[in-house]
Amino acid sequence: AGEHATAVQPREQWTGQVGFILSAIGSAVGLGNIWRFPGVAYENGGGAFIIPYLVALVTAGIPILFLDYALGHRFRGAAPTAFRRLGGGRLKWLESLGWFQVMICFVIALYYTVVIAWAASYFVFSFDLRWGDDTAGFLTGDFLQVGEPGLSFTFVPAVLIPLVLIWLAAIVVLAFGVARGVQRINVIFLPLLVVAFAALVIRSLFLEGAGDGLNALFTPDFAALADPDVWIAAYSQIFFSLSIAFGIMITYASYRKRRSNLTTPGLVVAFANSSFEILAGIGVFATLGFFAFEQGVDVAELEGLTGVGLSFITFPAIVSQMPGGPIFGILFFGSLAMAGFTSLLSVLQVVSAGFQEKFGLSPRQAATRVGIVSMILSVLLFATTSGLIALDTVDNWANNIGIVLSAVLAGVFAFWILGKGPELRYHLNAVSTFRVGGVWTLLAGVLAPIVLGYMLIQRIASLVV
Ligand code: PHE
Repeated sequence: AGEHATAVQPREQWTGQVGFILSAIGSAVGLGNIWRFPGVAYENGGGAFIIPYLVALVTAGIPILFLDYALGHRFRGAAPTAFRRLGGGRLKWLESLGWFQVMICFVIALYYTVVIAWAASYFVFSFDLRWGDDTAGFLTGDFLQVGEPGLSFTFVPAVLIPLVLIWLAAIVVLAFGVARGVQRINVIFLPLLVVAFAALVIRSLFLEGAGDGLNALFTPDFAALADPDVWIAAYSQIFFSLSIAFGIMITYASYRKRRSNLTTPGLVVAFANSSFEILAGIGVFATLGFFAFEQGVDVAELEGLTGVGLSFITFPAIVSQMPGGPIFGILFFGSLAMAGFTSLLSVLQVVSAGFQEKFGLSPRQAATRVGIVSMILSVLLFATTSGLIALDTVDNWANNIGIVLSAVLAGVFAFWILGKGPELRYHLNAVSTFRVGGVWTLLAGVLAPIVLGYMLIQRIASLVV
């Protein structure tokens, strides 16, 4: 059915290179940039972390980003179609690797929406600093109403309503298709995000104690470089942050016109994403420096420097103490929600496109069907009093095991088993101004699968022990 459908309907397209680049950056710049990178860098060598981070970017991030682009564009399909065609007559079942990526995206969407919904709520709470003095108590008690330990399934209306709204918004955007939906939202949101976030960072630099925060983040601890875990943290951050090996970049690249420059936009996306990440590091740590100063403690003594803790416990507390706090809160939670939403669109597009191609559905049919099923699941799982526990577990599996496995398999099949390295390389170079050579094959096809395979074994071992 898939082949038939693509033959009848012309493939959707971005309207041009800029629309594609902005959408790809919109996917890459997400919660990971804002709430994950700063804390990870701080805990893994501070200023010295930049070395493993750049090594990971150049040796695995960019090469695998190029691989994703080549697969999606060469085989003109979302992940399942691309892998089926990569496998050719010999390995048709390789399609299942694409479905594995669809599944990861599906799972990620279920909880990513939840965090966006929280951010949207906190955006509103910023106006009157609704969270009061005990922000941890507010989050778990008043807002999420986490009950006694153990599972309980009472709906929490304050979470339920924004969650449903975010889902409906995402469904509508996807239903409009790639150019009129996804691209249009990215073209609006990304500049808005950059302006809002830049304003926040500039403000943070003028806070008292900002310098201490920056010192805490950037003072290099070179001894950390001897620790393999620091290197693993760098590779993980790059993977998650660039949205590679999720099927996202395969899918997005499949909507580019036939003769398209692939590598130069890839470099732009990678550079923009890392720049945003470093900007976020500066903003977050300048703000944390202020918080430490206010409490008369050292930045090193602070807790809650990443993830949910940073965004929904530490930051609200800081906002409450800051002159002009509500504006700062609005900028922060607004940025979080916008960055999250554009990433959400990309994961959902992977799922929607997978079903479109498999069953010959239109974007609207696929978006509504996939969207409504996911919305119901997401509500059942996360808008209840046990949502917090589920979120953590799911996050861990999808991100720590799922994508690394999918990256290893993609590399092993494309290069080692099917020997498609030269074909993909030729495809990448056909129109591109930045040409890749044997180094790319070596990095994407040999080094990355080995490093990632090692990471995978480490992780599975750490789960088993
Ligand atoms: N790249 C996004 C970020 O940095 C995260 C993301 C990963 C989004 C995978 C969608 C899919 O937050």
